[in-house]
Amino acid sequence: MKRSLSRRGFLQTAGAGTVTMWIPNHASGYTAADMRAKAAGGSLIGVSKWELDTPALCVDLDKMDQNMTTMRKKLAATGVASRPHAKTHKCPAIAKLQLAAGSIGVCTAKISEAEALFANGVEKILMTTCNVSPGKIRRAMKIRKANRSFVQAVDNPRNAQDLSDAAREAGIVADVVVDVAVGTRSGVPPDERALALAQLLDKLPGLKLRGMISYDGGAQHIKGFRKRAEESLKRYEPSLRTFEAMKRSGLNTEIFSGGGTGTYNIMTKVPGFTDLQVGSYIFMDCQYLEIGGEENEDLYTDFAPSLTVMTTVLNNYFPNRLTTDAGQKALTLNQPGPIVIGEKGFRYSAGSDEFGSIQYETSSKAYTVGEKLELIVPHCDPAVNEYDQIYGTRKDRVEVVWPISARGHSQ
Ligand SMILES: Cc1ncc(COP(=O)(O)O)c(C=O)c1O
Repeated sequence: MKRSLSRRGFLQTAGAGTVTMWIPNHASGYTAADMRAKAAGGSLIGVSKWELDTPALCVDLDKMDQNMTTMRKKLAATGVASRPHAKTHKCPAIAKLQLAAGSIGVCTAKISEAEALFANGVEKILMTTCNVSPGKIRRAMKIRKANRSFVQAVDNPRNAQDLSDAAREAGIVADVVVDVAVGTRSGVPPDERALALAQLLDKLPGLKLRGMISYDGGAQHIKGFRKRAEESLKRYEPSLRTFEAMKRSGLNTEIFSGGGTGTYNIMTKVPGFTDLQVGSYIFMDCQYLEIGGEENEDLYTDFAPSLTVMTTVLNNYFPNRLTTDAGQKALTLNQPGPIVIGEKGFRYSAGSDEFGSIQYETSSKAYTVGEKLELIVPHCDPAVNEYDQIYGTRKDRVEVVWPISARGHSQ
């Protein structure tokens, strides 16, 4: 069955398609009064997502399950595991589902995310950002003291010493991985400095070296699968050399982690690689849909866009224009423009704080004020960070409401 994406919208897919046509669900059986009663009673379970107040962040549970299954099946024969990045969903309930679906742990970007996950029962956490301030080092040691499965990244010798001192003060030995740079964002450069740091981590009395992480943020969105595969493997060669040097030196290399949604089926070719820090695969977004996959060079169809934001039409006075209630604060980014599911020619701009603005030449119908639209967001991580909760829906009805416990946790 065919799927296609135009920059201005999604075209209907058929068969086991990952994107369904927008069909307003007026036949939900719930009246507006029912809705109000349910909301007053604190429960929206069973309500149609088309009746939620907006902007509302929703995840289609069938599609999300499908994404986890796809990841598990595709990795099964490779010997590489998944350790999904929880920076994408910031939601302990989803982290637990990922673990139940076979992932060996989860990652966090921030200490406050790790705290929120751990407080809600998630233990296997690898923090991929270094803790360098005294406050964060103390917080990291507190987590590690309570949670033997907590591992954190280090990319600097002075920081290594500080962590070791703090661990000793806390009466523990803290688990660490050396973060090896691909590009210039974070990590120790992949040369003799990386090996020297790994050797230092191995020696320091308060630390236990568990291996290395090396993530290439610049490779994930390279358009075209073949180009992405070629470039990301080439860019990864220095990291691989570092891994091999660590191994030759007799250092612990039980963890060799990296990769993301764009390279999940590429990094499996790196010898010794243990696990993928995939984040966006669980939700998908417009940025990822554009990169193309191994089977479809134009549209990345490996994972289904499960995450959507419901928005309401606020104004329809002006020709070929609609105003909605989902602007920059509801969607964060404007590029590429959000996709209105079921409309081909809509150009959605989330450029203003509170309002979304739609321009179009043709529309599938005339919209009235109060009608709902369903959007795929430009980039999932920052959009999720804007919401207190996510509505898990099946066949459009709310099945569960999960708190996004680590939302706004930027520290
Ligand atoms: C260190 C690290 N690992 C993994 C990921 C996950 O990437 P993706 O959402 O592209 O799967 C990210 C995302 O920015 C990251 O920063």
